Amino acid sequence: MRLSLTPKGRLFLLTIFLLSLVAGYFYRKYRPPYGFYAELARRELTESRRLINGFGHKYVKFRQLQGAGFNNQAQEILLFHHLALLTNRIYVYQPFMWRHRLELQPLSGFLLGPTKGSLSSALFEEVCPPEEVRNVTINVEPYAEMWRTAQDILNGPERCIYVENWILNWRFLESPAIHDIWPAYKTYLSQYYEWPSHILDMIYRAGVELNLRSHPALTDGEPYLAIHFRRGDFEEHCQYLSKTQQPFTSWSTLPDIQSHSAFPPRLDTSNETSIMEHCYPTLDRILDTIDAQVRNRPHLRSVYVLHDGAWDHLPVYWQYYKIERALKNSARARKAGWKGDTVGMRFITHSGMTPVKPGERDWKVAVDVELARRAEVFIGNGFSSLTSQIVALRLADGGKAEDITIL
Ligand SMILES: *[C@@H]1O[C@H](CO)[C@@H](O)[C@H](O)[C@H]1NC(C)=O
Ligand SMILES: *[C@@H]1O[C@H](CO)[C@@H](O)[C@H](O)[C@H]1NC(C)=O
Repeated sequence: MRLSLTPKGRLFLLTIFLLSLVAGYFYRKYRPPYGFYAELARRELTESRRLINGFGHKYVKFRQLQGAGFNNQAQEILLFHHLALLTNRIYVYQPFMWRHRLELQPLSGFLLGPTKGSLSSALFEEVCPPEEVRNVTINVEPYAEMWRTAQDILNGPERCIYVENWILNWRFLESPAIHDIWPAYKTYLSQYYEWPSHILDMIYRAGVELNLRSHPALTDGEPYLAIHFRRGDFEEHCQYLSKTQQPFTSWSTLPDIQSHSAFPPRLDTSNETSIMEHCYPTLDRILDTIDAQVRNRPHLRSVYVLHDGAWDHLPVYWQYYKIERALKNSARARKAGWKGDTVGMRFITHSGMTPVKPGERDWKVAVDVELARRAEVFIGNGFSSLTSQIVALRLADGGKAEDITIL
């Protein structure tokens, strides 16, 4: 039997065929790596099981924030892990909340350090039956006392402790109390901060493809300046911050950063205009900060822009384009006093250009963090936790505050 189709029918079939090709392409490109996550979860269990046979171990599990951005979660997981180590307890780590899909995924898919020698929370009840857990609430003001009190409690004899309240809350992270934590935390970061190998692969690939130097002291690729261009949904958020008179967040408030990195005029939290000026800077102000950093660095002519542009934040691309055009303008560069035989910036690239293979999209943010950490100069936003995390990592690596500018 011969199947005969009208021209309309053929067109219909062809359309279906093409649509399924497109759908297949996007499915492959955007599908999260569920199989790989399952494998990591199994590995976490195996490694945790090995650990629990140890004699004399003490454990601590914390109530943690779940569902905020990557760096908000990362920052507190690292601080909790640090606190556990300071008090000779095994940190009970919880899955990472991948906010965009509201899924819990294995922590070792994102950060490796806090999982090493730690216990997966999947085994917590087995290792610490509820009746053997001491539940504590640590509510201490002023905040300067909180960290010390937490250590006193965790130094106690109980084998298992669960801290029921969320001790590293926003107000704590914005308070000067964290300055006292910094010296030890800085050492912690330099010893325990570690990306998993699948993220290191992406970072390596991005560095090679974009020709970015992998360390200021090496000579592969071009030296570059990284700038965190926090736009997208930030304007509304900044308005909220200015109405509620918020200061910079966590590591951007360190005295060293305040005296060497904060770009004038000084932030005045009692002045809404001042908060907006720092939180949602004009393109001119952004260009001023770049001028100030590159004016005396004739060798620095490449830029990597970290941004949150996506389908839902298209205007970010338009602003990026304007910055790119201004930076490549040689007349403007000369007028701004750039030294050397300059024609403005030679090479400018951004987050959207990092090479991402199917299944790798969840880790793009980690690539941004690391590229900004490795840059010769970093310019960031004092109200952003991504910036704060990068500042901490750079200083922990021995980087100088002068090579950082906080908008
Ligand atoms: C401690 O808190 C956990 C979880 O909230 C609960 O299951 C457990 O029974 C509590 N333990 C004690 C001794 O109150
Ligand atoms: C508030 O900040 C803006 C921007 O820096 C500044 O121009 C203005 O003079 C400040 N107002 C007061 C009252 O300090």
